[in-house]
Amino acid sequence: MAEPDEAFSAQLRAATWSDHGDNEGSSYMSALVGGRLGREEYAVLVAQLHPVYDTLERAAAERMAADPVAGPFAFADLCRRDALEADLAFYYGPGWRERLAPSEATRRYCDRLREICFDWPGGFVAHHYTRYLGDLSGGQYIGKQVQLRLGLGADGDGVRFYRFPGKPKGYKDRYRALLDAAPWDAAERERIIAEVKTAYRLNASVTEALGRELKIPAA
Ligand code: HEM
Repeated sequence: MAEPDEAFSAQLRAATWSDHGDNEGSSYMSALVGGRLGREEYAVLVAQLHPVYDTLERAAAERMAADPVAGPFAFADLCRRDALEADLAFYYGPGWRERLAPSEATRRYCDRLREICFDWPGGFVAHHYTRYLGDLSGGQYIGKQVQLRLGLGADGDGVRFYRFPGKPKGYKDRYRALLDAAPWDAAERERIIAEVKTAYRLNASVTEALGRELKIPAA
């Protein structure tokens, strides 16, 4: 049960860290950071992430920007959709939009985002946290591995998704301070924790599906 006097950022991390492991340990992600995938096999992940960020960033712009609690989480520097589009153009060329479609797992993830993130501020933060704090944390390591392992240049082509305008540490400190200051009671904290677990499961399904499609052996 939630301890209301514990910093929420610490509580959230502790309560969901085992769910994080399913993502980190998926065969696809292990193969990616282990240098066993080529550019085409990495590009399919970028293609699946695009609809996810598109939906999250629509929820932010259309509904959550004006919310006093959720609004400050969605600061402009974090937005990833443009970076993903630049990476997609790099891997698939200017006609990338016509060539790509969300997988069934990605469609289910986006359905959940539409159900939760447009009306429930705490639920929006749950999904936002799972992706963006991840991009600022382990995502920075993943980005470096992708650049190195796929032989990409230092100019950022193909890995714009991992590059933020400022230093990740500053954004993470600010993000955790927002989590700690949010006026959520113990029951709302528990609901948010449960939604982060759902978000991790939905993410794991996306990479598990890619692992199956590419016939990557279990990690
Ligand atoms: C190869 C795959 C992955 C690796 C190696 C990895 C690694 C890590 C590491 C080392 C941290 C801790 C960093 C720190 O304490 O500053 C972290 C944090 C995090 N990761 Fe991952 N990660 C991976 C995949 C993912 C995925 C797919 C997601 C999202 C679906 C994700 C979401 C997060 C989140 C939200 C945090 C922040 C937890 C917190 O401090 O509250 N990670 N990751």
